[in-house]
Amino acid sequence: MGSAKSTQLEILRLLREKEGSFVSGAALAETVGISRPGVWKHVNRLKQKGYEVQSRSGLGYMLVAIPDSLAPGEILPDLATEWLGHSYHYLSTVGSTNDYALLLAAEGAPHGTLVVAEQQTKGRGRLDRQWISAPNRGIYLSLLLKTPLPIRVAAQSAYIGALALVKTLRETFELAASIKWPNDVLIHGRKVAGILTETQSDQDFSRFSVVGIGINVNHSIQEMDGPFRYPATSIAMETGFAVRRQKVLLDFLARFEREYERFLENGLGPLLPEIEGYSEMMGKTIRVVCGNREITGVAHSISNEGALLLLHADGSRESVWAGDIVRIEGGI
Ligand code: BTN
Repeated sequence: MGSAKSTQLEILRLLREKEGSFVSGAALAETVGISRPGVWKHVNRLKQKGYEVQSRSGLGYMLVAIPDSLAPGEILPDLATEWLGHSYHYLSTVGSTNDYALLLAAEGAPHGTLVVAEQQTKGRGRLDRQWISAPNRGIYLSLLLKTPLPIRVAAQSAYIGALALVKTLRETFELAASIKWPNDVLIHGRKVAGILTETQSDQDFSRFSVVGIGINVNHSIQEMDGPFRYPATSIAMETGFAVRRQKVLLDFLARFEREYERFLENGLGPLLPEIEGYSEMMGKTIRVVCGNREITGVAHSISNEGALLLLHADGSRESVWAGDIVRIEGGI
């Protein structure tokens, strides 16, 4: 017999298989190898976690509704990836999923490990900014990637996160999502997600990267009215209804794995037409803050190495590796 946790997952899996029909307590008890009172206890724990299960004497148990939780029992059975997210660390609350993933990396966690939390108390954004992480509303996740890559190439995995998320929002939810260089995802000019990539390296090659992504999913207008640096939005605000976070997460993971494999095979180059096509700044005059310098120019393209190429009024070109776009002509 497995641990109490795996027994409960197995009972949930069996109930999900027959969602909407009764499964007898005896059958569950026999399949998982515990007593019928044992099954009853596990079902009660599932109810405490938000699963709606009807019990009827003589018939058994029927799963009627599942909570919008990112718990492993809700994600792993539908996970359509080869290697991403199979090592799944789910936390109801954590300081920062990136910090947690960095600790797991130090302990030797495998490539593709995923940390996901319902809430963060110290969510971090770029440049030491805070990432407000309302409980059970958003998706706060970190992916551990261990393919050794030249340092500049490893940093490009943020683009893969942005591309995968934009495709998820466009294709699954029909939302006009776009990429704001270097690593924000916007809908109608408002920020819906941010990406924070942290890499540890040995000399010229990465040992691992942690790609942390915060997605505003079911936040209400009031919740998005907080102390945000940029105008913010959520998927629900854009679609007009609450969406299942499980679907967002599952679709995103499948796409991330696909795009990351394309990236490992041929580098960033073949992905650039799509990334540039989804970038709302291309061809527009933008102002970028890089440390204590402000650069204004027309966004021309992204180089194969991941730099943003700006054209100046005098015809000269400049590559920008990091910074914050503070204004796009006609936009934010
Ligand atoms: C940004 O827009 O500045 C990046 C925000 C990244 C937030 C995510 S939420 C999950 C992961 N854990 C963190 O502490 N930060 C990232």
